[in-house]
Amino acid sequence: LAQLNKLAEAAGKLYLGSATDNSELSNSSYLAIISDTDEFGEITPGNGQKWQYTEPSQGTFSYTSGDQIVDLAEANGQLVRCHTLVWHSQLPSWVSSGSWTTAQLTSIIQTHIANEVSHYKGQCYSWDVVNEALNEDGTYRTSVFYTVLGTDYIPIAFEAAAAADPAAKLYYNDYNIEYSGAKHTAAVGIIDLIQTAGAKIDGVGLQAHFIVGSSPGQADLTNVLKAYVAAGVSEVAYTELDIRFTTLPYTAAGLQQQASDYAAVTKACLAVNECVGITIWDFTDKYSWIPSTFAGQGGACLYDENFSKKPAWTTVSSIL
Ligand code: XIL
Repeated sequence: LAQLNKLAEAAGKLYLGSATDNSELSNSSYLAIISDTDEFGEITPGNGQKWQYTEPSQGTFSYTSGDQIVDLAEANGQLVRCHTLVWHSQLPSWVSSGSWTTAQLTSIIQTHIANEVSHYKGQCYSWDVVNEALNEDGTYRTSVFYTVLGTDYIPIAFEAAAAADPAAKLYYNDYNIEYSGAKHTAAVGIIDLIQTAGAKIDGVGLQAHFIVGSSPGQADLTNVLKAYVAAGVSEVAYTELDIRFTTLPYTAAGLQQQASDYAAVTKACLAVNECVGITIWDFTDKYSWIPSTFAGQGGACLYDENFSKKPAWTTVSSIL
């Protein structure tokens, strides 16, 4: 079986990629796999470009962590999905706990984005401009941004990003918007909100953090991708794919189910021309974010903790 990115490119996609993080890069076995462009044609920094690291106090910018990963991708000849500019989480408390006027918070968002996007200008294939603005029922999530600015913060952020790097593809990114329902409908509404404000949005990023055995079916996944395209974006992507076990250790039968769940996502992306690629939220269970966020859960990635390929890898490879 050939390697994933090579197959994805042959199938007409731009990339098959992986998230990574700074501390993992000191593992030489890990570094060799993440740097293999036949396997991964794209990298997303898992943390280093988030607000808490890039502007930890007002007006003080730091790009050390993000640069390490972007420089690695550039040295390898890989695309970078830059992640993320405006998000309620991993937001420094100087932003979240300030009592801002609308003018002040607008300026804070514009300054943050102008600085960060300019720093990475020309290096980002895309930016996740706004991340996770929605609740599960399709209402807007409470955050300092929404509380002070209402939905205006979204087009404000997209305008600022477009001004700083006109060539970067600008994405709205969220989870549980991969299948039909209230949150998907609301994400379609965000495309409209941005465009009605006269700002540019190029893509919708579907995180795709799924659970083995209750992952969405291929038909629904495909229809939802097409619905975003019909609503006016030129591309869509699975941006943080992983499919976790809620009970560990996993079984051989569980690994087969996981493989078929990964297959549905892969087939959905292949079925839609505008789906430019798939990013897995790290390729190995060794460095997955799942166990530290969902206690007792894990096994979500294509490679196990010893860097051996799991059945899901073989299935994805055979489909691509
Ligand atoms: C996660 C990182 O992988 C973790 O290391 C960090 O502790 C928390 O954030 N949705 C996103 C990503 O958009 O930024 C998150 O990444 C996972 C959920």
